[in-house]
Amino acid sequence: MKPHDEHQSMSGAGASLVIDNIGSLITNDPALGRGPLGIVDNASVVIDGGVVVAVGASGAIADERIDADGACVLPGFVDSHTHLVFAGDRAEEFTARMAGQPYDGGGIRVTTDATRAAPTTELDRLVRRRLLEAHRSGTTTIEIKSGYGLNVVDEVRSLQLASRYTAESTFLGAHLLPSEYADRPDDYIELVIGDMLRGAAAHARWVDAFCEVGAFDADQCRAVLQAGAAAGLGSRLHGNQLGHGPGVQLAVECGCASVDHCTYLSDADIDALAHSSTVATFLPAADFSTRQPYPPARRAIDAGATVALASNCNPGSSYTTSLSFCIALAVREMHMTIDEAVQAVTLGGAAALQRTDIGHLSPGACGHAVILDAPTHHYLAYRPGQPLIRQTIGPLESLATR
Ligand code: NIG
Repeated sequence: MKPHDEHQSMSGAGASLVIDNIGSLITNDPALGRGPLGIVDNASVVIDGGVVVAVGASGAIADERIDADGACVLPGFVDSHTHLVFAGDRAEEFTARMAGQPYDGGGIRVTTDATRAAPTTELDRLVRRRLLEAHRSGTTTIEIKSGYGLNVVDEVRSLQLASRYTAESTFLGAHLLPSEYADRPDDYIELVIGDMLRGAAAHARWVDAFCEVGAFDADQCRAVLQAGAAAGLGSRLHGNQLGHGPGVQLAVECGCASVDHCTYLSDADIDALAHSSTVATFLPAADFSTRQPYPPARRAIDAGATVALASNCNPGSSYTTSLSFCIALAVREMHMTIDEAVQAVTLGGAAALQRTDIGHLSPGACGHAVILDAPTHHYLAYRPGQPLIRQTIGPLESLATR
């Protein structure tokens, strides 16, 4: 299923749906309501054929009705960075880290061994389970990377699985050097931009690489991004996660849609982001789980950079699909306002995926919405750790009935 080309109403094709009696509706369209979030009080949203067709006062009529009972409704969350295709877990690595071991990304090879060994039916079951968890947490659009196959067969298999569930699948063959290529990084990059990319390109929209000491350097990542672009893929990059480095500058140079992590940003990095269309995607759950400092979001936003927040769900650095948790961290630890954090998981995620049809609830947008068990969006930061997502309306819901 490709969520952005298949839209479903609650009762199936043809039936229109009204979400009525909304206490506080976040449209993300300033033309529709108050402030940058375009907030409308006592509102309704009508969705027909999976598309928003009207936003207005409570009391609109449609074939089906959901009573929000005065709660807050937001656009469905857009998670623009996940690594959902993996087997095994690394709970022991996490425990050791909490006892003082640093995170260096080396555990990616542990997950690669487990992923290669897993039967395809089992990997598929694991991906679906994580997608359901994400959907229950309010996510209606999700990006999924490969990166735990690290050979032609297993990278292609991972992307085939990812692209069953999302149009936003990303080829991350350059995640880490697999053990069998130890000390032969150039040979591995040749494989990535050759046979691996040839097999992967048909199942991916994006290409990505991990630009970090211990993973791949700027020249290697540039070669991967350029080869991906030549194969028709958009580019994105992991950069500046574990220390200062060339990732942000490279992402801007290559016209990446997004550079992800951005935990360490120099003034020059912030300036480059502010004067580019590359989105700075922060992954605070990874900084939480690896005991890194949090990204300097305030400086980036104040300079004019476009920002997103994503879960980075993976078994090593960030084993969560909860964007509510990311909002709470961004507000408490990164000094983002609650409005900024909510926009970063909706409009920001959409910008990171270069999508204009999601992340907002203007007429014409996808009818993807989240109904909270709370009167306003402030509760997402104010009540951290509480299951505040009452209902998620959007394409991943069809998984729940399979
Ligand atoms: O985004 N940084 C690289 N990749 C993942 C971590 C993967 C892992 O540790 O398994 C990340 O944090």
